[in-house]
Amino acid sequence: MKIVAGPASQVLASRIAGELGCELLLSEFRVFPDGELYTRVHGEISGDVTIVQSTPTNTDLIHLMQLIDACDKAKRIDVVIPYFGYARQDKRFLSGEAVSSRAVAKAISADHVYTVNIHDENVLGYFNCTASDLNAAPAIGSKIKSLNLKSPIIIAPDEGAMNLVSSVSGDDFDYDVLQKHRISASEVEIKPKKLDISGKDVVIVDDIISTGGTIAEATKRLQEQNPGGRIYVACVHPVFVGNAVLRLMNSGVSEVFATDTIEHILGCTTVAGIIAAEFKE
Ligand code: R5P
Repeated sequence: MKIVAGPASQVLASRIAGELGCELLLSEFRVFPDGELYTRVHGEISGDVTIVQSTPTNTDLIHLMQLIDACDKAKRIDVVIPYFGYARQDKRFLSGEAVSSRAVAKAISADHVYTVNIHDENVLGYFNCTASDLNAAPAIGSKIKSLNLKSPIIIAPDEGAMNLVSSVSGDDFDYDVLQKHRISASEVEIKPKKLDISGKDVVIVDDIISTGGTIAEATKRLQEQNPGGRIYVACVHPVFVGNAVLRLMNSGVSEVFATDTIEHILGCTTVAGIIAAEFKE
């Protein structure tokens, strides 16, 4: 099998190729003067090819489509989209709206698509081929263990993150979800549903951190209940729009870490092994 790395996933693709001991084809990505994109895969495209490319931006999505087209001489094309953008636009809320995740999924043609902790698994059904979602939770759980925190509690910032948090915790950690109570028209109280966090380290885990608003708010509220308690933050997909990291640090977070589904300096927990395992004989 040969691996083709898209521009958004060069580090992760190299790690996967290293895990599998397979050839990594070099590619070229350029922008024409009018803004159109150019993609070329160098080397011999034959046999089974796996393309690895996250799609945090529209440009990355076009490169992915171009890479798939460039590999049309391959016997089989598997596509790994570690971070699948548009997955949060998974439903039609108002008449006339595009279900954007469906529109994007339909535009990707491959023999099999792999995603990692896609925001909504229903989106997998929109692809025209078989699709599977891989789980980065074991990698995040191992990273938390390596921090040697004192009886940490893993916290989901909302119900949507509960499955992920339960999977990250496994049998190793207690976990809980934040609950919002409205105190008055202008005041809300956010606290864990069941567990008392006093004197404990907390790790808030979410699938995506985009603007950082969700986690910054959760952090502030948790600190009000447990002043001085350390708060760590982990996510699978470090989208980190604008000043998201600063927002998190300003809210009092001790450390933020993420996986390498999106290339970011804080994305130090690799999912390469989890993806490579799918391709091992
Ligand atoms: C939402 O359902 C997601 O799981 C994340 O909680 C959300 O995308 C985070 O966005 P932000 O960082 O902008 O608050």
